[in-house]
Amino acid sequence: MPSGEVEVETGSGQPPKLTHDELRQAQARTLESPRRRYGIAARALFVMLDVLYGKRRKLGKFKILELVARVPYQAWEQVAFVAITHVHEKTGMTRRIQERVAQARAQQDNELWHLLIIEELLADSGQPQPRIRFYWLPQIIAFFYYHLSWLLFVIRPAWSYRLNADFEDHAEHEYMTLVSEHPEWETTPFTSEFADDYGHFDSLADLFRQIGHDERVHKEESEAQMREPRFS
Ligand SMILES: [Fe+2]
Ligand SMILES: [Fe+2]
Repeated sequence: MPSGEVEVETGSGQPPKLTHDELRQAQARTLESPRRRYGIAARALFVMLDVLYGKRRKLGKFKILELVARVPYQAWEQVAFVAITHVHEKTGMTRRIQERVAQARAQQDNELWHLLIIEELLADSGQPQPRIRFYWLPQIIAFFYYHLSWLLFVIRPAWSYRLNADFEDHAEHEYMTLVSEHPEWETTPFTSEFADDYGHFDSLADLFRQIGHDERVHKEESEAQMREPRFS
């Protein structure tokens, strides 16, 4: 492994918490890495989000990303759960599917803490969140994205994992770039009702680096599953 890289174990759905130095290394590594070559569905989603919420990186837009981020994991968890009903007599396979259920559950929970922390920061910032754009519209986007993730998974699981890998890669780069756009966050303390649940950090910059790193771990988990997509 090249020096400066943080080794990441993927598979549990629980991304590791990094130290300040590791977080800085992780940010540098993301910023010097090219983005994935996004597929058509991912590109269409990112263009739509730019049109609806602007190209600038603002907390309100990250809240929408986090609302949407949870739903592929929810779709996969449900497909896997139904699969267990059909294959429960093959106990070895059932156990492996259950591991995917547990991973998808942990990934959803991780995205939930991201969402709650951003919601809290937004409330404290006083930034306006017009009801249609920041409450109703994201629910419609999440609804369609859930069904797209589910449908792709049923047709060809690797397609669903690829869409999510694109989504997570985009999120990883957006978070790490957001931190570099806010040098003042290096000295802004992070206090949150959810710190005991998610983690304590030296600064707001480190909080967002950690979230960006979580997104990288999610991406790597989806890339691993693209190579081994079927339950077996
Ligand atoms: Fe997230
Ligand atoms: Fe994620």
